[in-house]
Amino acid sequence: MSYLELRNLQKRYTKDGPLIVNNMNLSIEKGEFIVFLGPSGCGKTTTIRMISGLEDVSGGDIIVDGESILQKKPRDRGVSMIFQSYAIWPHMTAFDNIAYPLKLQKIAKDEIKKRVEAAAQAAGIEMLLKRYPSQMSGGQRQRVAVARAVVVNPKIFLMDEPLSNLDAKLRVSMRSELKRIHLMENSTTIFVTHDQAEAMSLADRIVIMYQGKIEQIGTPMEIYSDSATLFAASFIGTPPANFFETRIEKTEEGYTAVNEHVHYRIPAPLHAAIASREGKNAVLGIRPEFIELSPRGEKAAGCLCDSSIDFIEPQGNHSILITHIGGAEIKIVSSDPMNITVNTRVSLNIRDEHVMFFDPDTGIRIR
Ligand SMILES: Nc1ncnc2c1ncn2[C@@H]1O[C@H](COP(=O)(O)OP(=O)(O)OP(=O)(O)O)[C@@H](O)[C@H]1O
Ligand SMILES: [Mg+2]
Repeated sequence: MSYLELRNLQKRYTKDGPLIVNNMNLSIEKGEFIVFLGPSGCGKTTTIRMISGLEDVSGGDIIVDGESILQKKPRDRGVSMIFQSYAIWPHMTAFDNIAYPLKLQKIAKDEIKKRVEAAAQAAGIEMLLKRYPSQMSGGQRQRVAVARAVVVNPKIFLMDEPLSNLDAKLRVSMRSELKRIHLMENSTTIFVTHDQAEAMSLADRIVIMYQGKIEQIGTPMEIYSDSATLFAASFIGTPPANFFETRIEKTEEGYTAVNEHVHYRIPAPLHAAIASREGKNAVLGIRPEFIELSPRGEKAAGCLCDSSIDFIEPQGNHSILITHIGGAEIKIVSSDPMNITVNTRVSLNIRDEHVMFFDPDTGIRIR
């Protein structure tokens, strides 16, 4: 059995209101770093507030170490939470802020001192313990919040967008800090964000959420290279994947995905799966780095359509090439765009093994 399990977890805020969390099932192993990733309003905060006990559940169960925790008070659940606004008390020094949860537990003074110092060291603020929040930078205040959450040795660490108040540079450095602290403490962690880059760089596994439901659970690379749904494919990756609404036809060449602008021969390994869509629509998805360019008219394998390059955005070690097909902007990532300039006429070719098809009604991958 896994360490933390959500079983058919449900939340409605009002009796007949919508299911904000819609039958979530999730198993988390001890020591795992899980990231909840999804757009605003998809139910991330609601879910972790139910785990922490700050919010009642409307259905289902939450199991920790084989036991339901629903009847336990928040402080008896062994859970520490860090909030989006770091919520440290302005009238207390860093030391007193960090010591606060231990004082509530009536722990002896010298033991408190020892533990606060250890937590402060883990968060890299041991020299700031006498300062008040107004005498600290945003990043330092956030570290105090981290130390205060660490100090109780939680079984489960819940972090609700803990980096969103920080500027871009600090965000990146704090995120490595949090990862370091996680590796040191080895606590089971759920980290909430709607920043896909943050999710990719921190997570052992990402849980993609959309409208109260889990769309996909997997390692960052699994979700990136083997997306289970249209939403998952579109939410992960910069620049995002390209999508084409097509119709599946059977011709003497085999199955093709076509629309007014594109004509793509579907590779043989996908024929069995795509057969059921014959005469129907399917969304073709392809990530920007899996489109290759050849001089126009040269019929390469995986050919999708002809076009010309409208903009080039150099990024240093690669360039983003932008073209338009049927009015839609298509982005291509190329690490070798040397001979391509604006207005170069090209053919777009898909690396067949990376093409994805989705059911346009359900968003589910066809495979
Ligand atoms: N106390 C409440 N009463 C009624 N509805 C609520 C309450 N709290 C949240 N909601 C609704 O539940 C849905 C999910 O909210 P939640 O805060 O869990 O989203 P989130 O994924 O954390 O979003 P964000 O990324 O913006 O923080 C939203 O539609 C929100 O309006
Ligand atoms: Mg939230």
